[in-house]
Amino acid sequence: MKDKYGRNINYLRVSVTDRCNLRCIYCMPEEGILKREHDEILRNEDIIRIIKISAEFGIRKVRFTGGEPLVRKGIESIIYETSKIKEIDDIAMTTNGIMLYEMADTLKKAGLKRVNISLDTLKKDKFKKITRIGNIDNVFKAIEKSLRIGFEPVKINTVVIKGINDDEIFDFVKLADEYPLHVRFIEIMPIGEAEKFKDGYISSDELIKSIGGLTECKVGPNSTARVFKRKNAKGSIGFISPLTCKFCKNCNKIRLTALGTIKPCLHSKEEIDLKNFLKDEVKLRFFLKDAIFNKPLEHNLEKEISQSQKMMFQIGG
Ligand code: GTP
Ligand code: 5AD
Ligand code: SF4
Repeated sequence: MKDKYGRNINYLRVSVTDRCNLRCIYCMPEEGILKREHDEILRNEDIIRIIKISAEFGIRKVRFTGGEPLVRKGIESIIYETSKIKEIDDIAMTTNGIMLYEMADTLKKAGLKRVNISLDTLKKDKFKKITRIGNIDNVFKAIEKSLRIGFEPVKINTVVIKGINDDEIFDFVKLADEYPLHVRFIEIMPIGEAEKFKDGYISSDELIKSIGGLTECKVGPNSTARVFKRKNAKGSIGFISPLTCKFCKNCNKIRLTALGTIKPCLHSKEEIDLKNFLKDEVKLRFFLKDAIFNKPLEHNLEKEISQSQKMMFQIGG
């Protein structure tokens, strides 16, 4: 369905947990997060119910996010149930890849079509520094397996931070030369822990200039990324530029958090608590529809920090 600004809202991002098996320095506090009580988190059947109603309202694409979605028990059955909803034609996941190697076959069988894997460095030591606890070999194995078993496309999300990983831009570019991977460099957004890295911000245009030799490709109107090809490359290079090339005007998303709230915009204060209405079908439908219709026009990150009351790991990007 259309929101009040005429945007066709057809993409639902479902954060299935705020927990994560990494502690990335720009996302999670080192000590981790408060563990939620079991009954605070939406149950599998409630998630499916909300996805089903969303599908009736026009949602066609569902992306599972976290925290880290693969730490949620039963994620494969959530995916399987989603795959049975006939209106949904795209089921994707954004994951840090740590557990993906072992779970990939099961997820594919359940109906997962594609994965976006977060990876900010190609160096083993630096990966440990950025994630505080992760082993990069797990992610490499996951990427190789994702390509092998036919998740298509496989995208790599790389948040670029000056002084931390900007020395590796060309290594990522070469990765997309050699493999059919779609590397996307992301401008860091000032939200939660990432506010500490404001001075490390690098614009996509700066990167595009320094890489050179890129030919822009056509993308769909709702793409978060501008996408480029290099001569003879097997993959592509993309730039997600929430600060310098806002995609709000064409935004087609809403978000469901693990706590059962709808966040119609990543950076706005508004949240609609659907958990209050799980026992009342009429109200559940009314408030979900209302949340879509009243999606805010845009964020204002150029002038202010994110107004979101939730951190990135609670929203899932
Ligand atoms: P595709 O479906 O493959 O195009 O993926 P996607 O780009 O929609 O999702 P992904 O989870 O890979 O997001 C990549 C980056 O874009 C993350 O840093 C997200 O936080 C950011 N992002 C996604 N949607 C939005 C949005 O609506 N607003 C802003 N500001 N950033 C977003
Ligand atoms: N700015 C931009 N991207 C971010 N991500 C997490 N925090 C930020 C931030 N502050 C990215 C992750 C992952 C995706 C879900 O969001 O690296 O790829
Ligand atoms: Fe976990 Fe992703 Fe946040 Fe890293 S960026 S701590 S992988 S949710």
